[in-house]
Amino acid sequence: MQLNLFDIEENNKVASEKERIISLRAELEQHNRNYYVLNNPTISDKEFDTKMRELQDLEVKYPELFDPNSPTQRVGSDLDGGAFEQVEHRYPMLSLANTYSESEIREWYDRVVKGLGGQQADIVCELKYDGTSISLWYEKGKLTKAVTRGDGVRGDDVTRNVRTIKSIPLTLNADKKSYPDSFEIRGEILMPWKAFDRLNKEREEQEEPLFANPRNAASGSLKLQKTSEVANRGLDAYLYYLLGEQLPAQTHYDNLQTAKKWGFKISDAIKVCHSIEEIMNYISYWDTERKNLPVATDGIVLKVNNLNQQRNLGYTAKTPRWAIAFKFRAERACTKLRNVTYQVGRMGTITPVAELKPVQLSGTIVKRATLHNEDFMSQLDLHIGDMVYVEKGGEIIPKITEVDLEQRKPNFPKVLFITHCPECGTLLVRKDGEAAHYCPNTNGCEPQLKGRIRHFVERKAMNIDGIGEEVVDSLYKSGFVKNYADLYLLYKHEDELKRQDGFGELSVNNMLAAIEQSKQQPFERVLFALGIPQIGETTAKKIARKVKTIDRLRDATIDELQTIEDVGPIMAQGIKQWFENPANVQSVERLRNYGLKMESDVAEIEDGPLKGLTIVISGTFTKHSREEYKALIEQYGGKNTSSVSAKTDYILAGENMGPAKLEKAEKLGIKIIDEDMFNQILFNHEFTTENISPQGE
Ligand code: IVH
Repeated sequence: MQLNLFDIEENNKVASEKERIISLRAELEQHNRNYYVLNNPTISDKEFDTKMRELQDLEVKYPELFDPNSPTQRVGSDLDGGAFEQVEHRYPMLSLANTYSESEIREWYDRVVKGLGGQQADIVCELKYDGTSISLWYEKGKLTKAVTRGDGVRGDDVTRNVRTIKSIPLTLNADKKSYPDSFEIRGEILMPWKAFDRLNKEREEQEEPLFANPRNAASGSLKLQKTSEVANRGLDAYLYYLLGEQLPAQTHYDNLQTAKKWGFKISDAIKVCHSIEEIMNYISYWDTERKNLPVATDGIVLKVNNLNQQRNLGYTAKTPRWAIAFKFRAERACTKLRNVTYQVGRMGTITPVAELKPVQLSGTIVKRATLHNEDFMSQLDLHIGDMVYVEKGGEIIPKITEVDLEQRKPNFPKVLFITHCPECGTLLVRKDGEAAHYCPNTNGCEPQLKGRIRHFVERKAMNIDGIGEEVVDSLYKSGFVKNYADLYLLYKHEDELKRQDGFGELSVNNMLAAIEQSKQQPFERVLFALGIPQIGETTAKKIARKVKTIDRLRDATIDELQTIEDVGPIMAQGIKQWFENPANVQSVERLRNYGLKMESDVAEIEDGPLKGLTIVISGTFTKHSREEYKALIEQYGGKNTSSVSAKTDYILAGENMGPAKLEKAEKLGIKIIDEDMFNQILFNHEFTTENISPQGE
């Protein structure tokens, strides 16, 4: 075949554009490193964006050059990623023994020297980062897997989410080819304080529960389904442990310094110490200095530097003998207990709260601390006027840990738990075996009524926009809404509302429209919104799926209720009791009359075509997400399980089915079907064990 001039030019263009893709990827990865790892950007954001766009356009043009490690992939996707596969660690992921004192550090060091037959050992001191641990696998300089710690033996494969963390190199620095073909590096994924504060602020605005600390926020983010959401969480990572068969150096310190050259983020706060004094100086310096760091740390890790010595010392069942963690004491402050007040929740639970003389603690002013319940309070034996120690133990709300008895005066009155509801005066009850007190006046106690209205309109419940805490207060006060069902009669008071302070014409219109719109919410949301004790969002979904109508739920026996996944005896009892209260039944009837859904839309096809079949989903799909396939299997009467076993009937396989699953399926002779086949079968409703043949037949 002869090529004309045009063809030759076209071929040249294609070749040079393909080369451009490769060079842009390397260049952008280097800029990522400069910015996120070295804190030293060398081009402007605008120039970076222009190059990124050029790469994105070229990758669209040449889809055959797709690479999951391309810098373009760091933005993630909006698609629901489905369940995380479990992966076995190549080396178990152990934890560290903890110490809290200098004497314990000395004892550990003595044990090390003794274990080495009297040899001295250099000790590397590092910060103990307070995030969630991760193991990264690299093959030929490319990130191939990121696995969480899990139970130490197996963890979740969170590679798709980890790829969005910009300080984690997807491809290693090409100039430094000294890295082995295959190695693993472990470290901590962290949410910097700034990102944490921003996230919690957003969650507060959306009325979503707040994360107690950056550690929970980091591990929660890593398990998100949508990679695009992970990319927006601002996660960072420090690496602190290199593993593999061919490591570059014979000491831990040198290995980390080499890994830094390959492109990993290795902390600068790492030091080789030669004596206990040096170690103690390091600790006392960082105990103060850590407060200026952008991420949370909770201690110092001490590691024997020499790898031969590490090998000689070995491991106990759970921890290495060659390393130990020194934990910092949580910061605490001493202040005066002024009073104890009591809060009433929407379920009537009474929570005692310590009212304190305001005191500064870890950068915030603390005025109150939770006392949980009567038992917690009496263990502390509090007296009004006491000087108490408050600590922030990784929770949002600080807690009282100790009373300074030396400062107690004889005239300080002892705090006794109240006997009557502080809001409505009803005698409180404490059920057998429970720690909490309740106010039983469910239909007449103001904070309970208001709390239930607030819960009803919440985003995850009926999602009625424009009704925050203040609006609920004023609707309650004006008498228009005393019960959540009253919301659906608000339209009758439109004119009066518009004349009220704080309610403009537009806000009333929007609010009434949102109330009307909420009638379209599915049954599972209504069920959650009703505020039945212990029925959270997930349980509401499971109940709605299984029981399908509110009438069946109301009439179910305790035994029947317990056949629902997640519903135990206490919850079953709670549901039964809730329906025994005529006021609750009346609310349900009113809501039904106003047009709310009291039945499930997605009826399960009980005698569905997948009845009795166990199906495993593996790989990625194009027509539906894995979650959708899971729902379809269940909806059509089948059972979806995550691992392949002799009980598996079929594997619904997408692209890149896990090799382990494939091997196991072949060994067990399990049939494999692709998504087209699966969809066709569901559509035709002709799914029998006979008409599916193994792939390739
Ligand atoms: S070394 C076998 N170094 O602390 C030793 N761990 O309590 C592996 N951590 O699971 C761990 N900073 O998640 C090591 N500089 C550091 C660390 C560190 C934080 C975490 C890690 C580990 C836990 C142990």
